[in-house]
Amino acid sequence: MPFVKRTSLFTLALISVAAMLVTAGFIWSGIYNIGADDAHTRPVYAVLQTLRDRSISARASKLHPPPNLNDAAMIRQGAGNYAAMCAGCHLAPGMAATELSKGLYPAPPALATRAVTDPAHHFWVIKHGIKASGMPAWGLSMSDEYIWGMVAFLQELPRLDAKQYEALVAGSSGHAHGGGETKAHDDSADPHAGMDMSTAADEPAVVEHRHADGSVESHPVLKPTSPAKADDGHDHEH
Ligand code: HEC
Repeated sequence: MPFVKRTSLFTLALISVAAMLVTAGFIWSGIYNIGADDAHTRPVYAVLQTLRDRSISARASKLHPPPNLNDAAMIRQGAGNYAAMCAGCHLAPGMAATELSKGLYPAPPALATRAVTDPAHHFWVIKHGIKASGMPAWGLSMSDEYIWGMVAFLQELPRLDAKQYEALVAGSSGHAHGGGETKAHDDSADPHAGMDMSTAADEPAVVEHRHADGSVESHPVLKPTSPAKADDGHDHEH
C-alpha cells in the first residue's frame, strides 16, 4: 500500500529531524560538563571508549613488531626514555601520584600494573597519541626504533620492583631518542623549570652502564659547550 508507506516514511523523517534538533540543542545549551574533574556519563564514555578501541586496533593490526623486543639493550634504552618522558603521567614502581596523574581525565593508566598484551597497540598509541586526552603523539619527535624500545621496556615494567626499576633507569643513557630532546638548562632563567618532567636537567656528568654480568662501566657525558647549542635540542650526544 503506497499510501501507508509514504506516511511511515514521513514519520520516520520527522523523528530523525526532531532527534537531530534535540541533540544540537543539547550541545548548544552547554549543559554537558566538559570539566576534567567530572567523569563522562556512561553513554558518552561507552561511545568514546568504543571509538578509541576500534580506531587503535584497526591501525595497530597492520603493524609488525620487530623481533628484538626482548633485547636487554632495547629494554634499557626504553627505561631511560620512560623515566624522562612518561613517568610524570604514568608513574613507576615505588612512585607516588603526581599532579598530572591525578588531574588528567581520562586518567593515564599506571603502566607498571598492566601487562602488555599487544605490543603493536602500545606502539601505535605512543607514536600517534590519543586525541582529546593527555596522551601526546611522541612520533613527532621520536623515531620508530626508540618507540619500540619503550614498548620493549613496558613489557618488562610490570615485573620490576622500585629498586630494579631505578637500577635499569640508572643503567640507561637517560633521555635519548635521536633529536628533539630538551637539554639541561639554567633553571633560574626558565619559567617552566618546575614543570620539566625530563631528567636532563640533573643529568650526571658521568653515566654508568650496568652490564648483565654485574660489572659497571662509566664514561663522561659530552656536555654542550655553549648555551646556544644547549637550547637547540639537537646538537648533543649522550
Ligand atoms: C601528559 C600526560 C602523559 C604523558 C607524558 C604520557 N602519557 Fe601515555 N597516556 C596518557 C593518558 C591520559 C592516556 C589515556 C588516554 C585514553 O585512554 O584515552 C595515555 C595512554 C597511554 C597508553 C595506552 C594504554 C592502553 O592500555 O591503551 C600507552 C601505552 C601510553 N600512554 C604510553 C606512554 C608512554 C610510553 C609515554 C612516554 C613516552 C607516555 N605515555 C607519556 C597521558 C600521558
